[in-house]
Amino acid sequence: MCGIVGYAGSGSAKKMILSGLKSLEYRGYDSAGIALVRRGKLLVRKESGKLEALEAKVGSESFDASIGIGHTRWATHGAPTRENAHPHLSQDGRIAVVHNGIIENYMELKQDLIENHGVLFLSETDSEVIAQLIGLYYEGDLVAAIRRAVKELRGAYAIAAVCTEEPERIVAFRRDAPMIAALCEEGGLIASDIPALLKYTRDIYLIENGEIVVVTRDAVQIFDEEMTRMHRTRTHIAWDIAAAEKRGYEHFMMKEICEQPGVIRETLLQRLDDKGELALDDLAFTKAEIGAIEHVYIVACGTANHAGRVGKQLLERYAGIPVEVELSSEFRYRNPIVNGRTLVLCISQSGETSDTLEALREAKKRGARVLSIVNVEGSSVARESDFVFYTSAGPEIAVASTKAYTTQLVSLYLIALHFGRIRGTVTRAESGRLIQELKRAPEMIEAVIGKEAEIKAFAKKHYKKEKIYYVGRGSDVASAEEASLKLKEISYINSFAIAAGELKHGTIALITRDVLFFALATQSYLYDKMLSNIEEMKARQAQIIAVAKEGDMRIAEAADEVFFIPDCADEIAPIVEIVFFQLFAYHVAKLRGRDIDQPRNLAKSVTVE
Ligand code: AGP
Repeated sequence: MCGIVGYAGSGSAKKMILSGLKSLEYRGYDSAGIALVRRGKLLVRKESGKLEALEAKVGSESFDASIGIGHTRWATHGAPTRENAHPHLSQDGRIAVVHNGIIENYMELKQDLIENHGVLFLSETDSEVIAQLIGLYYEGDLVAAIRRAVKELRGAYAIAAVCTEEPERIVAFRRDAPMIAALCEEGGLIASDIPALLKYTRDIYLIENGEIVVVTRDAVQIFDEEMTRMHRTRTHIAWDIAAAEKRGYEHFMMKEICEQPGVIRETLLQRLDDKGELALDDLAFTKAEIGAIEHVYIVACGTANHAGRVGKQLLERYAGIPVEVELSSEFRYRNPIVNGRTLVLCISQSGETSDTLEALREAKKRGARVLSIVNVEGSSVARESDFVFYTSAGPEIAVASTKAYTTQLVSLYLIALHFGRIRGTVTRAESGRLIQELKRAPEMIEAVIGKEAEIKAFAKKHYKKEKIYYVGRGSDVASAEEASLKLKEISYINSFAIAAGELKHGTIALITRDVLFFALATQSYLYDKMLSNIEEMKARQAQIIAVAKEGDMRIAEAADEVFFIPDCADEIAPIVEIVFFQLFAYHVAKLRGRDIDQPRNLAKSVTVE
């Protein structure tokens, strides 16, 4: 989604804002712009396309000041043109505004501004309405004008504004879209996301919903909607800028794939005691609360939802609780049956996904307790949940999620075992066996990464295919869905995943000799069934690459090609096999010349509905 950076200080606003926006490129965007305030004037430059175009434009000019706001836009209303890029200006040209989110009632506001106030609009965006409204209400106090304007806006949004009449300050406001602020040696900063500020400080102010922030060169002041001053302590961010840089890798995605053994070790290390037993001290449930859970809804989007599908199998098997997995966008509007004995488990890397956040609120309204598995500390989902379990994946920058997924899986294993131990549905021995297996997961992933040359060869052979499908059974279905999503989002190849048993109920009609199937066969109790499915597909001339465990001799005869993952317990296979699929998608996308870290049309955190 859109990225916002604002700076008020004594240094070069151009430099500070552009470098902040650069750190937010991973969010995905299609145009960029900047507005500076200098000697009673607004200097505004915008370009469609990548930040380089904007940098090239302002680089050669004496375009600079010590206060300003910048923006990278991910188009929702109106094409990604220069006219639609932010900042947008009020009609009198005194106020510039950047915006992240969606204004749902912008059509009616726009009509009113045109018909009753003679406002001339220059863009097709919903965002320009905000600038025009603030301009309309401006009577010498930007804070007052913003407070009045936001009362009329409906939707989820964060905004930042500067005004020629008040050249010392940036005023920002958030409602259901992320916003943070900080004070560093160079001055005051605001931004939509943490990486934009990490070069300057790791101590940040988290801005809450409905708050107004005033940023100057030496202060960050936070107020609630009634203008009561809020005293906020700063949050220290555990990761530093190095964690958010490529460090020699060609793409963030590759760096993040390779970080998986380390971050899984870290997630485990924090939750096991010296004797290697579960120690989930950060999971503040009482035993009675865990015992009273009757039903779990896992609610998440995209990759996080796939992790939830594996989580369902684990929670049902080890904790003996019935689980349903739902897409957040469906759950929030579905009138789900939820009560005080329901646990809603939200999974979100960013903790800012609008659909998941709204599903969480809906669940709480209906009396459920909410536990969230989140990667970003202090994010909205984390803050609004009753219990939070942090994955220790560090910043995930590539749009395609990799290390967040595998650490979400590890978190789900730990939670399922913890609940199972307390509910008496899993023995100490069984839990110990699984923990031992989990501890081996990092080295098994290392072994898969060690076979990169083999994976690259698969990619080279198949990257021109236009149809690549994935089938599996049991938790291999979730892995198949995640594998297919990885391929789709970064290579743009037509792909889907299906439970192997479903093939003959319709989809088998799609099989022709140009279709490549990945057959996931890591679940021992379903192995024979899977072999039969492979035969079915082969009989219809599909090409088949199987993914199986080392030492499996039968599969080599059935499939055209096989990729072997290390021999491991069935439960652990989803963590290991997905790394093969991440690397396959990566190399296919690279051979196809795709923008791997920022695929077209996608954004890292989806803060709009
Ligand atoms: C995965 O590669 C994605 N780009 C996407 O599906 C993502 O997992 C989804 O948007 C959910 O994001 P979240 O985990 O930040 O809530």
